Amino acid sequence: MLQTFLVILLIGAATAVDLPSYIKPCSKTGNFSECALKHAKEAIPHMLKGDKKLQLPSFTPLMISAIDIKGANNFNVHLGNLKVYGLEFTEPVNISVDFAHRTAKVISTVPRLVVLGNYTINGKILIFTLNGHGAVNITLSKGTYEYGFHWTTEQRNGVEYGKIIGSNFDYAIEGVEYHFENVINKEKAISEQVNKILNKNWKIVNNDLKPSISETLLIIHNELFSKVFTQVPYKQLFLE
Ligand SMILES: *[C@@H]1O[C@H](CO)[C@@H](O)[C@H](O)[C@H]1NC(C)=O
Ligand SMILES: *[C@@H]1O[C@H](CO)[C@@H](O)[C@H](O)[C@H]1NC(C)=O
Ligand SMILES: *[C@@H]1O[C@H](CO)[C@@H](O)[C@H](O)[C@H]1NC(C)=O
Ligand SMILES: *[C@@H]1O[C@H](CO)[C@@H](O)[C@H](O)[C@H]1NC(C)=O
Repeated sequence: MLQTFLVILLIGAATAVDLPSYIKPCSKTGNFSECALKHAKEAIPHMLKGDKKLQLPSFTPLMISAIDIKGANNFNVHLGNLKVYGLEFTEPVNISVDFAHRTAKVISTVPRLVVLGNYTINGKILIFTLNGHGAVNITLSKGTYEYGFHWTTEQRNGVEYGKIIGSNFDYAIEGVEYHFENVINKEKAISEQVNKILNKNWKIVNNDLKPSISETLLIIHNELFSKVFTQVPYKQLFLE
């Protein structure tokens, strides 16, 4: 049983927005993957600065108000006031689109993501019963992130728009460093030892947290892609 509640961007009223000049569309015929990859590389630095018209927030850093992770054995972590740094170094590496089945897969790498904020933790990880709260720093190194989605189209006011109707997310990382300040409440020295052990065993800790982190990243990707899909007419996105 695992639930993630996430509040980041609010989907505003979907009104038609022209494709911003920094996102260059690609033709469905020809080598779409090659074109999309090239154009994505050019568009990402602009998109990450935020875009009022598309209602995209700034991603440098990305602010997330709250993430609640609930795992087995009454384990729960509340993360609040989060700032995610490092998204500006996102590098798309593979975009594959199947227009017949309306599915797409986007693989990107991010060398280093630093997540800073506050946390409250309750429950067991490894052999420790944790009950702390304070500042948190989770640093993910050399991540490969894979977002897949399935879409349909819908008509609004006589204009065709895309709509994401299914999606999935997975990631692999080469390392994580955790720092939960005061992870065992009011036991500073023990807390530092526990952090060291969590970091030594990061693969196990990561496996526990991965479903929630994946779900969080899935929601962020869905929001980002939906902003473009629901607002920019379909035929501006994919040229015949
Ligand atoms: C499209 O471009 C990619 C990357 O350059 C290449 O690997 C692939 O073989 C090309 N596909 C076709 C059908 O030309
Ligand atoms: C991109 O992913 C597709 C589907 O998994 C694969 O067929 C293709 O070879 C990959 N292209 C590159 C350039 O890695
Ligand atoms: C985290 O909580 C502490 C104490 O409750 C507060 O002083 C600090 O400003 C908070 N940090 C963030 C990023 O909200
Ligand atoms: C967060 O942790 C990383 C990795 O240990 C470290 O390089 C970075 O300085 C930390 N950032 C803050 C604000 O503590």
